Amino acid sequence: MKFKKSALYLLALTAIFGQMACTPTDLSKENIIPKPVSVVPTGDSFDLTDQTDIYVQGESAEQLQIGQYLADKLNPSTGLGIEVKTTSEVPASGNIYLSLSENDTELGDEGYELTITEKLVNLTARKPAGLFYGLQTIRQLLPSKVELATAQQGPWKMATGTIRDYPVYGYRGSMLDVARHFFEVEEVKSLIDQLAAYKMNVLHLHLSDDQGWRIEIKSWPNLTTHGGSTEVGGGPGGFYTQEQYSDIVKYAQDRFITIVPEIDMPGHTNAALASYPELNADGKATELYTGIEVGFSSLDTHKEITYKFIDDVIRELAALTPGQYIHIGGDESHSTKIEDYIPFINRVQDIVIANGKQVFGWDEIALSTLKPNTVVQYWAKAENAIKGVEQGAKVLMSPSKNAYLDMQYDSTSTFGLHWAAYIEVDKGYNWDPANLVPEIKRENIIGIEAPLWSETVSNRYEAEYLIFPRLLGYAEIGWTPVELRNWDEYKVRLANHGERMKAMNISFYPSKLVDWEGTGKK
Ligand code: ACM
Repeated sequence: MKFKKSALYLLALTAIFGQMACTPTDLSKENIIPKPVSVVPTGDSFDLTDQTDIYVQGESAEQLQIGQYLADKLNPSTGLGIEVKTTSEVPASGNIYLSLSENDTELGDEGYELTITEKLVNLTARKPAGLFYGLQTIRQLLPSKVELATAQQGPWKMATGTIRDYPVYGYRGSMLDVARHFFEVEEVKSLIDQLAAYKMNVLHLHLSDDQGWRIEIKSWPNLTTHGGSTEVGGGPGGFYTQEQYSDIVKYAQDRFITIVPEIDMPGHTNAALASYPELNADGKATELYTGIEVGFSSLDTHKEITYKFIDDVIRELAALTPGQYIHIGGDESHSTKIEDYIPFINRVQDIVIANGKQVFGWDEIALSTLKPNTVVQYWAKAENAIKGVEQGAKVLMSPSKNAYLDMQYDSTSTFGLHWAAYIEVDKGYNWDPANLVPEIKRENIIGIEAPLWSETVSNRYEAEYLIFPRLLGYAEIGWTPVELRNWDEYKVRLANHGERMKAMNISFYPSKLVDWEGTGKK
């Protein structure tokens, strides 16, 4: 009898402490990535129940869609049957309320204020993008298992308080090289979902290179039928039809992500040169290429057909691109004489502008005369990026030594290269875009982008090993003021995202610098 009693007592204690452990009450202890600008805890908790619904102020289709995005995230795991409803007033106790108001100008176009009381989750923003980012924070305030696709046991509680949050940089991106190895539409969409979860807003797609041409151009069909037919290692390659590409663009748009398409030129063009003999100086098509060398190909900058080709490609691409930018590459044109390269880049800028878009290019393009609004993507040579700044251009920060996702973590990394550096998770996190090159100042910088080149990665699993967990750090660099960032504090929050990334089905690299099994997990 005595034994039984103490066993019962133990059981009761376990239940009480178990319950306490999963009742979050201190909002300031939550592990939000990117770290919000301001968090004021109030020491209670809000309970998501089967009575909870999402109320959207007004009848706007866009806001309803945002509300539905949250419901679709929460319902499979919580099984609470959360519905989205419109309302003209603050809803009753127990609900989530999304509303827009222009008044709070500090929040900008992407910021939000999230006030959680025992009674209500109240999310406000000036623009739909702000609501969307607030929803990403709500996801992270719930237990990691909320990310699972199957029904889980509750409770579903959130700590109370107020979060005010807005980004430092307007451009927070990643890049996927779909040219060296092709990635299927579903793989690209999966990356888009992951970027959205960490409040990133650009995906740059590297759509053409020596090894493959990946976007259908109806006026030059061999680019894909021939130029898209292989990849590094000789696999079957692939390409996106214009319809598939538009589907990706729309999927991204619905998640407040802009696709920046890149057609790399005048170098990195073997796939085009293999598809059309007339683009070559000697009039002969090259062989398809499946190796990983760079710098051996060039469009013929002296032939008029080259510019007709570029105009057709840019025109078709611009028609598929709601975003403002088209990226023209311009990197590593080692087979193009500099006296040919400069007028070529000048002329291609004009073509992009004539098609209604702004020009993006790797830092070498700053050797030419930059047109107004052209953006220089710093990856290799600070002196090039500085030339861009001197011409009044904005700079996107993608320093290969700090931000290249295809760089190995260390010499034991399974995938990746190390020509720029080994980039462990701390090194990827511990830098400030506005304090890297003295001549490139905060006001010159539009943001940060972490590119994944795919010479050594051919599928989602291999890509995720290199992208995660470093992407979370780049998301934080782009969003959170540098004064609030600190590796020792960040690595604890990151550890708590291990379970969350697993629940999101992300195959991340379990860096030894992070105590993934540490205490205090949610
Ligand atoms: C580059 O990494 N070639 C831009």
